[in-house]
Amino acid sequence: MKIAIVTGASSGMGREMVYQLADRFGGLSEIWVIARRMERLDEFDGKLPLKVRKFALDITDAESLKRLKNELEVVRPEVKLLVNSAGCGKYGKIGELTPEESSNMIRLNIEALTAVTELVLPYISANSRIIQFASAAAFVPQPGFAVYAATKSYVLSYTRALAQELKSRNISVTAVCPGSVETEFFDYALDGKKLPLYKKAVISQPEVVVKHAIQDSLMGKRMSISGPVMKGFFVLCKFLPHDLIMRFIK
Ligand SMILES: NC(=O)c1ccc[n+]([C@@H]2O[C@H](COP(=O)([O-])OP(=O)(O)OC[C@H]3O[C@@H](n4cnc5c(N)ncnc54)[C@H](OP(=O)(O)O)[C@@H]3O)[C@@H](O)[C@H]2O)c1
Repeated sequence: MKIAIVTGASSGMGREMVYQLADRFGGLSEIWVIARRMERLDEFDGKLPLKVRKFALDITDAESLKRLKNELEVVRPEVKLLVNSAGCGKYGKIGELTPEESSNMIRLNIEALTAVTELVLPYISANSRIIQFASAAAFVPQPGFAVYAATKSYVLSYTRALAQELKSRNISVTAVCPGSVETEFFDYALDGKKLPLYKKAVISQPEVVVKHAIQDSLMGKRMSISGPVMKGFFVLCKFLPHDLIMRFIK
């Protein structure tokens, strides 16, 4: 049975991925959707042209990961697409965030993404694809958003290495690196604070970022950077001293 698995499917870019993948990949029998809020996953009912298997899981929790592992062992699907979209960020200077807030980002963005990737990997067949949500925050350290940016640097580095390792198995791996995208991400991230103006000015829509990410994945690209502004930012981060860019961000 050929399936796609999407984490973070209850909102934002993960939810959009589910709709666009179901539209574009006709050969799938099922799509497995993962997030904590089941009532949000229920919203897929009757809206997709394939069976949806819903998992209300907190993927930072070992027991939840065991449930996913068991389901994979029982069903033994052929995973054609894995999308790791679950992630969170919290603005605040180092020392201002609570230890839990910092640790939540590390556990979800780094540990859970790694765990889900490695759990699903044995079921991913040749000519399949993995899409990991990193961020443009991975390109340069971000004062005021330091832990989040560091977690996304991990995702980008891990994903690039994974792409190299899986090349011989003909599995394409893409790190998606958007700038700001209009989703519920900012409800938790900002917690009443204002989004920096330079980020607000270049905010994208999830439909556009996801469409671009799928196209880049189909083309076998290792990074997906949507839009000329973010592409320009990526080039700047490659060539300008990071101290200078950080001064601007601050
Ligand atoms: N929005 C942006 O500006 C932006 C920019 C660059 C990169 N990104 C990255 O893109 C990805 C998607 O972000 P988004 O903007 O779509 O955010 P979002 O709308 O807040 O969606 C985050 C998703 O992650 C799920 N999630 C959170 N904690 C979880 C947990 N412990 N276990 C399982 N699922 C969990 C949420 O579902 P539940 O709450 O139901 O669990 C939700 O479905 C993230 O990795 C984010 O870091 C976002």
